[in-house]
Amino acid sequence: MFVLPELPYDHAALEPVISRATMHLHHEKHHQAYVNTTNELLTKADKSPASLEEVVRGATGDVERKLFNNAAQAWNHAFFWVAMSPRKLTPGGALAEAIDKAFGGLDKLKDAFVTEGAGHFGSGWVWLAAEGATLKVLSTHDADDLLVHKGLTPLLVCDLWEHAYYLDHKNDRKGFLTAWFDALPNWDLAQSQYAAAQGSGEGWAYPPPSDSAQGTASAAAR
Ligand SMILES: [Fe+2]
Repeated sequence: MFVLPELPYDHAALEPVISRATMHLHHEKHHQAYVNTTNELLTKADKSPASLEEVVRGATGDVERKLFNNAAQAWNHAFFWVAMSPRKLTPGGALAEAIDKAFGGLDKLKDAFVTEGAGHFGSGWVWLAAEGATLKVLSTHDADDLLVHKGLTPLLVCDLWEHAYYLDHKNDRKGFLTAWFDALPNWDLAQSQYAAAQGSGEGWAYPPPSDSAQGTASAAAR
């Protein structure tokens, strides 16, 4: 059984960009539901995968579309939580150099990220990704994630589904993305992911399944 990962900070730690109320709903309702459905589908199919990454990459074709959607959403949300920091950070080292090279500076990267996310039609995710040594901004639809996009390593992601921002920013997705980029990106994670994309260290991975854990344990404790 996969578990819902604990948030790495307090529910109110990302205010005012993301409120405590949004974090409770988003983590304990939306994310929990994706984890639960993934576990139910795996149990029904009598599958015991070693990792969530294996589930996402292996769920192909129409038959496994529901499993892909739920497993990928479980992964994307867990990565989204760790891709944010309550403490304002800035990119440094090799990552800062790569940002300058690919975009012409952090402000230009922000423009590209906000423009991509604001212009994305419907639900999905906006990513900063490494493709080898270079960087790119892209968006994916619905549950789609970079685990199934060969050659891309995610550095940061922001949720574009309305449940991510509607309580706090109403229909102003661009305002949400602008405030998000100014305050919340976890550049430490982005830097270690960038290093992993160059073959140095492991990339971030979803917590492995636990035989004894219940998919609802984490939320029930809150
Ligand atoms: Fe979400």
